Amino acid sequence: MTERVLRLAAIGGDGIGPEVVAATLPVLAAAVEGGGGTLVVSDLDWGGERYLRTGEVAPADAPDIVRNFDAVLFGAVGRYDVPDDIPVWDLVIRLRQGLQLAVNVRPVHAFPGVPSPVRDVEGVDFVVVRENTEGEYAGIGGRAHGGTGAEIAVEVAVHSAAAIRRVAGYAFQEARRRSAPLVAVSKSNAMRHGYALWDQVVAEVAAGFPDVAWERVFVDAMAARMIERPRSLGVVLASNLFGDILSDLGAVLGGGLGMAPSANICADGSGVGLFEPVHGSAPDIAGSGAANPLGCVLSGAMLLDHTGFAAAAARVRDAVAVTVADLTARTPDIGGRATTAQVAARLLDAVTARRRPARSERDSVGRPGLTAREAGTRAGMTQTPDAEDQPDRATTVGETGGLPGRNAAPEASQLSEDEMADTVSGAGPAGGTAADEPESSTAGNG
Ligand code: IPM
Ligand code: MG
Repeated sequence: MTERVLRLAAIGGDGIGPEVVAATLPVLAAAVEGGGGTLVVSDLDWGGERYLRTGEVAPADAPDIVRNFDAVLFGAVGRYDVPDDIPVWDLVIRLRQGLQLAVNVRPVHAFPGVPSPVRDVEGVDFVVVRENTEGEYAGIGGRAHGGTGAEIAVEVAVHSAAAIRRVAGYAFQEARRRSAPLVAVSKSNAMRHGYALWDQVVAEVAAGFPDVAWERVFVDAMAARMIERPRSLGVVLASNLFGDILSDLGAVLGGGLGMAPSANICADGSGVGLFEPVHGSAPDIAGSGAANPLGCVLSGAMLLDHTGFAAAAARVRDAVAVTVADLTARTPDIGGRATTAQVAARLLDAVTARRRPARSERDSVGRPGLTAREAGTRAGMTQTPDAEDQPDRATTVGETGGLPGRNAAPEASQLSEDEMADTVSGAGPAGGTAADEPESSTAGNG
């Protein structure tokens, strides 16, 4: 078999972004190497720090630069000393629009036992499919009459039939693939132009999918339904702004923003995708080791799927299932005390354990008799045959270097399960988490 090379651009960005990306890359590398491939990573220093140094967040031709790669793994941008809109427009939205990443895919999956403020989330498993290039994020508008006390601002929401058609087409395909129902989110009762066009084009697309059950739900009712009946959801199709808001709400069902992955991709699956955790840069916890890397790691699994490394993606998802099942390998936002590096070490162990079954499938789960694959099954993860699996190889993560703090893992396992259970039931450690503090998820969101 010819060796397959995956060329990745890694943009850590600001705040916890570099920490979660650093935790993710070795896991992806090990998963790719487990199938006989090679991961080659180029680190791009784009973000707030570069802005303070050079006056620009990213080069003007950022979309063209990333087109040279197979995919982009992105952490987060935003820091207190840079105005929020600058990295968002010069990096996040520039890449989404510049690469025509018309679809933003945001799965919501409740892993067994991961605490959520919503009481009953067992079995919740749906995906938000968000339009990603226009709507309220089109960037068209202006301000006038400044300084008069009667200033006005206009923000034009743009909805084109072409964009609605392509995102709806993707969403209905996804509903068919999952054999799941689809909800099309709207607000055409109050916004009679843009969302009326949404309703019309969605109905046209739906006519081509007679096998998919679908309904239209207004966004306010949708917010309530996501809390009241989250298991009734399969695919949630939404405009840019509605999808942004509903995907944060969805993330809470899955244990918080730290758990939530996303993929920004072209509707037809071609081209370079941008894969990023839904959370922001959380500057308040940056550097403290409290960042949950799983949203970024699961984004990495989506990246692997998108680039044709399906077996490696399955290895990563299995490793995440094993890791969240281990109470000693949870960060504070999901009821544990482990650090980012300890979770990363656990993930890496679980990924490589798949290639060393004699030693470790028992250790890697912390309980005898439950293999990584079994734990993945329990967590409802998709199982993919190991078509790519090859014998062991050394792991190289390319230019980004190794994993910090890998040796710290044994400290986490010194905590007894009872101690960890205490933290799960609410006696969590001091110190904020992205999920606890609204500032974390909004400051520098990206
Ligand atoms: C997200 C973020 C972004 C968005 C911001 C940073 C522009 O909130 O990815 O959800 O609204 O799309
Ligand atoms: Mg958001």
